[in-house]
Amino acid sequence: MRFIDLFKKPNLIAAHRGDRSHFPENTLASLRGAIGKCDFVEMDIWLTKDGVPVILHDETLGRTSDVETFEIFRDRAPWRVEDFTLEELRRLDAGNWFYEKDPFGLIRDGKVVVPPKEDRTQKIPTLEEVLRFSKRHGIFLNLEIKDMHRYISDEEALKAVFDVIEKTETASMLLLSSFRGNYLPLCKRTNPKIPTALLRSDPLRNPLDLLKDTYVDCYHPSKEIVDADSVRKVRNAGYFVDVFVVNDSEERKKLFDWGVNAIFTDFLPDFRDGFQKNSEIVI
Ligand code: G3P
Ligand code: MG
Repeated sequence: MRFIDLFKKPNLIAAHRGDRSHFPENTLASLRGAIGKCDFVEMDIWLTKDGVPVILHDETLGRTSDVETFEIFRDRAPWRVEDFTLEELRRLDAGNWFYEKDPFGLIRDGKVVVPPKEDRTQKIPTLEEVLRFSKRHGIFLNLEIKDMHRYISDEEALKAVFDVIEKTETASMLLLSSFRGNYLPLCKRTNPKIPTALLRSDPLRNPLDLLKDTYVDCYHPSKEIVDADSVRKVRNAGYFVDVFVVNDSEERKKLFDWGVNAIFTDFLPDFRDGFQKNSEIVI
């Protein structure tokens, strides 16, 4: 089964940055935590100073790591990922901040059990680690390639990503997406079998033009810019529509009623709570 086959089923659930309301986002813990609770997992890619694709959301390291506690990195504030080699990044802890800051309030509410101190630490994963882990556990992944044009050419950035995909032989499990339209035709040219998606959070009068120009298979709009009419038009033109970030069950239902294929969420639905799960992740 390939990623695109997931769309044969309706009402897909994507884990946004892994199970990020229960585990530190974009880590192997949040990836593992999403197993069995969603149809696919979304994670974000940046390249390090030495050109290694790693999994991280922000352009800077401050929010999701302990970088500011390192005297040796003090002069690198605001700690952009592009200023750190992989070896430097791997010294950081990307886990404890979650248990200290409780970003979703679920620790306060007793819904997340804080692990013992020695189990809270997480490394910023490399793309290779995430792909190997996902392959082992049968996880379908949407990799969002962050816009790195400020520090690396489009071709070099994508080559680094595709080298890892090839090396790990994981193309069939993947959907690639980006806000940077320029990346998408290049992805398609490199491997036409991997589905691609255009991300968008600014309103578009006619998304179909841009979807056609970027040669994508899917449209990934934010929930703020979609309505029933635009979903219908894009679906009728043959594209899949996956909407981010949807944390409210009423809103999720409304979007699925409109014909949206998948929603990205921070709160993986509680399947005991009347939610009909459509597909199982095979472990
Ligand atoms: O891919 C959907 C979503 O992840 C896009 O926004 O900022 O959370 O990466 P962001
Ligand atoms: Mg993302």
